[in-house]
Amino acid sequence: MSDCTHGIEDFGEKRYIQANEKPMDEKGKYSKEGNCKSKQEKKIIDLTIDENKSLTMSEIEKICRQVIKYSVKTSHGRFHNQLFGQMDPYGLAGTWISEALNTSAYTFEVAPIFSLIETEIIKRICELCGYVNGDGIFSPGGSISNMYGLALARYKRFPNIKTDGMFGLPPLVLFTSEESHYSLKKAAHWLGFGMDNCVEVTTNERGQMSVEDLEDKILQVKAEGRVPLFVNATAGTTVLGAFDDFEKVADICEKYDLWLHVDGCLGGSALFCYKYRQLLRGLHRSNSFSWNPHKSMGAPLQCSLFLTRELELLPKCNSLAVDYLFQQDKFYDVSYDTGNKSVQCGRKVDAFKLWLMLKARGYGSYGRLLDYALDISKVFVDKLRQRESRGFRLVIDEFQYTNICFWYIPEHLRNLEETEEWKQKLYEVAPKVKELMIREGTLMLGYCPLQYRNIGNFFRMVFTCFPVITDSELDFILNEIERLAEQWHKDINGFV
Ligand SMILES: Cc1ncc(COP(=O)(O)O)c(C=O)c1O
Repeated sequence: MSDCTHGIEDFGEKRYIQANEKPMDEKGKYSKEGNCKSKQEKKIIDLTIDENKSLTMSEIEKICRQVIKYSVKTSHGRFHNQLFGQMDPYGLAGTWISEALNTSAYTFEVAPIFSLIETEIIKRICELCGYVNGDGIFSPGGSISNMYGLALARYKRFPNIKTDGMFGLPPLVLFTSEESHYSLKKAAHWLGFGMDNCVEVTTNERGQMSVEDLEDKILQVKAEGRVPLFVNATAGTTVLGAFDDFEKVADICEKYDLWLHVDGCLGGSALFCYKYRQLLRGLHRSNSFSWNPHKSMGAPLQCSLFLTRELELLPKCNSLAVDYLFQQDKFYDVSYDTGNKSVQCGRKVDAFKLWLMLKARGYGSYGRLLDYALDISKVFVDKLRQRESRGFRLVIDEFQYTNICFWYIPEHLRNLEETEEWKQKLYEVAPKVKELMIREGTLMLGYCPLQYRNIGNFFRMVFTCFPVITDSELDFILNEIERLAEQWHKDINGFV
């Protein structure tokens, strides 16, 4: 087995989702009962729980098998619905071990080896980010990691916030691009900034933040008496996979003394790349960084890191001298009580599965796998261009990362005037084709609109380290979309 095929191609069932036996009615519509989430599911699993009735082992086994059977097999090689793909088997082994040990990462005494592992990984990844003497923490997902960034930025500027709250302060403002992830808005809400103080910055054709607009909006906010505090730049946006220009954004942040956070939840894995490492140029100038190895790299969910180059700030911001947990008179070095830096109390030892993956393969393997994923995504773009006359159309001309967005224009809609009505018909294609994919169980691909660009549904294909996709698989994906769209049109005799 070569390095690149170290995946788990045979993992899961051939058909990752149960095809629905219910046929279409004469109008080509599926009835509600035919939906695999409704009647059928209720029949196969009795969801009720009783006060006293317990099950036999064979009944329990039957239920577990049913749950597996009717769950989406995200580690199937044709699951491309999310920003994550197949799971790395070493990561899975790590998860099983840590789940079986049922450890919590608050103190060294209860998780000695895991505390050392977390500390080591954070040190190594900080080095890769260019954070000299950085610090960090594993968190339960990218949204929380981004929230850590905002909390830290606020604490650094206003340390009294920890005791006094935001009372008496003018409104504090964060800036993020219109292409960025919604977790920034949620963070603004949760941390008391208010969503109206999360200012959206416009983007260029590729989806990168406009630094001119950023500066204009900072000046505008200042003129209104609000206080600019934090800029979120993205390394790999959720839809278009865009990377903001960190050097230019950092120039603005330095000019106005703002905290620069990089949301690298998706594209942070480029840290390991050999060919595409320059996507993260300027990262070392940021104050903090979020990264989800559970996306491009195939670590089992959840695996997310928050890192900062501001040494000591994390424990200062988040620690409370809780003497029933973080006693200072312990017999060991209490700096390994990593829970003191966390907003959580009990915390999964997510560092272990990532460490096992990196240890088992060497982190260069992930660099090569991601370089390959980026290369093959470019081949996919070429194929889409070659099939232009067969109805495929790219949403933008150039993609920076492994998300490729495109439309399929069915035969009966080609070579027509592209009126508003025509567009609405086109935007119905992706959801309908996706429905058929799910019903037939052949493929699972995401779709979405981009409201801020006023464009409707298109397909989003995402390449990840696993599965390692071959050229012929790309043809399968495109042929399948073509087949399902045309078949659907034939079945209903016209899009309605
Ligand atoms: C760019 C980006 N940031 C943050 C997140 C949030 O990560 P999580 O789902 O782990 O909360 C996502 C999730 O898709 C994302 O794409």
